Amino acid sequence: MKSIRYAAIGLVTALVPAMGIADCRARLAEVQPIFNANCVACHQDAAPGGGLSLQRASAFDMLVGAPSASVPEVLRIAPGLPDESLLWLKINNRHDEVGAAGTEMPPGATLAEAERALIEGWITTCEAG
Ligand code: HEC
Repeated sequence: MKSIRYAAIGLVTALVPAMGIADCRARLAEVQPIFNANCVACHQDAAPGGGLSLQRASAFDMLVGAPSASVPEVLRIAPGLPDESLLWLKINNRHDEVGAAGTEMPPGATLAEAERALIEGWITTCEAG
């Protein structure tokens, strides 16, 4: 009986980190409309600005845990860590903090506070797993 209980605990422990990333993938749907309206014109499969496509089918794999094209030691989205995520730094015009070149995103504009809050919440959901 005891061994079954331990096996169950082990299974739950193994599943929890994976659930963080599953949530992250699912909740990208909440952020995607912001990308579609403000980013995809320059970040699409056919012409990915900075090597990054933010189209729905590509965005997760090109962002989460993926290295930046310009500063490979920095991740575009560091799961759970907005302040270490180049995308977050770019939309707050703080990318110089990690030595990234280029401009803020979107160039010459700033996303609304509520949009940035949604993106920050999404990155926080993406706990390491
Ligand atoms: C007018 C075109 C344009 C728009 C709109 C735009 N981008 Fe960019 N983006 C670029 C270009 C060009 C680069 C590469 C040069 C640079 O980093 O500034 C880039 C680079 C980036 C990078 C760094 C990629 C890497 O691997 O180094 C991120 C992250 C990014 N953009 C996110 C966004 C997000 C999020 C939005 C929307 C909120 C957005 N961009 C809107 C043109 C654009």
